[in-house]
Amino acid sequence: MTHSHRLLRGALFTCLDDPGEDNTPLPDTTRYLEDGAIWIVDGHIHAVDDYATLAAQLPPEIEVVDYRGKLMMPGFIDSHVHYVQLDIMASYGHQLLDWLNDYTFPAECRFADAEHARHAAERFLDELLRAGTTTAQVFCSSHPNSVDSFFSAAQRRQLRMLAGKVLMDRHAPAALTDDTLGGVRDSERLIANWHGRDRLAYTLTPRFAPTSTREQLDAVGGVLRSAPDLYLQTHLSENRGEIAWVAELFPERRDYLDVYEHYGLVGPRSTFAHGIHLDHDQRRRLAEPGANIAFCPTSNLFLGSGLMDRLACRDAGLATSLASDVGAGTSLSGFGTLQGAYQVGALLGQPLTGWQGFYRLTLGNARALHLADRIGSLQPGYEADIVVLDPDATPLLSRRLSCATTLAERLFALMMLGDDRTVAATWANGRPVHVRDSVAAGSA
Ligand code: GUN
Ligand code: ZN
Repeated sequence: MTHSHRLLRGALFTCLDDPGEDNTPLPDTTRYLEDGAIWIVDGHIHAVDDYATLAAQLPPEIEVVDYRGKLMMPGFIDSHVHYVQLDIMASYGHQLLDWLNDYTFPAECRFADAEHARHAAERFLDELLRAGTTTAQVFCSSHPNSVDSFFSAAQRRQLRMLAGKVLMDRHAPAALTDDTLGGVRDSERLIANWHGRDRLAYTLTPRFAPTSTREQLDAVGGVLRSAPDLYLQTHLSENRGEIAWVAELFPERRDYLDVYEHYGLVGPRSTFAHGIHLDHDQRRRLAEPGANIAFCPTSNLFLGSGLMDRLACRDAGLATSLASDVGAGTSLSGFGTLQGAYQVGALLGQPLTGWQGFYRLTLGNARALHLADRIGSLQPGYEADIVVLDPDATPLLSRRLSCATTLAERLFALMMLGDDRTVAATWANGRPVHVRDSVAAGSA
């Protein structure tokens, strides 16, 4: 049997563990090679080392891709994003509940049309890859075909993706609401068709407590108990009006989180988007079963939801992941998310280092999603999902980075000034899935 061998040569940076919060990474948590190489065999990383070391061992037929002058990192990961909201990014003037009613629900209604869903899924993936994001945990709409369209498109591109059908059986337009148990049965059918197929995984997706009845939440908990390798994502404590509404709708529960606890939705593979307005007790209750909070800084700033206290989560032992939350988020780019995270942190007196930022975007998010044995790092045995960054993408970036004297400074400036122009190429499963200049030429 013949194997496909490729070598990517260039500078590379990867995390091996959490580098900590200081601007000097903890020992043995990061790896940087100035003239490095990633040897890929059949979609997986076979070896990572200095080019000179690997050069001596390579098979003669290997294809070498020269990325000297660029910086390779693991593909970026987005732990919470709505593909069905691409067309309402940057919609003016509202906070969460009005924004949902006036912009979000009408946009999601359009996904009843299979052709619209297919087209949107392709364009969304184009955008993710252009931004260097190779894995995301994705909200679809409540229409099962929106999930089929998304997974089909991701499967064709050999991407590792998580997604699920929104469950909501009340407080939304009739065109979007499920039959209470019918929505859960549709989810089970989608799970049977997609979960564990190629690089795809299913995420149970009750939108948030206000849009599901007790019966629906209970049924979702039953599915999760029967198949603990499934994921779950929803929203939690994003906005004060939302929290007051949950208290009205579920007066028998002691707080918002208790609704999810009561129905068995808080587990090690559960992602709760936002979690801004939580106290220490609630953070501990999320930490104990191993759930994570998706920190969505550009969304939180855009909707005026509040400032997520990342270090309070850390102190409670609660994992946080990083997410764009498009369409409330204003950037699909991991760089945009990191810039927002820095700004939120600065307002809270918690400046984010470049080390911690890029850790969060890669291995940290992979850990939160229980995928850290296969993505999020450049190490032998990992899947070859790689982003190739161009420090000379713009004259200004080039000038600023050339002034940096340490790797800490360089990574931080790259984090704060990078954007989708900085992504020269994106690889997934050992294949190029986006090349910046060819896309630019092709679309000219
Ligand atoms: N809460 C319930 N649904 C949503 C959504 O689509 N976006 C955000 N940001 N919050 C939500
Ligand atoms: Zn969201």
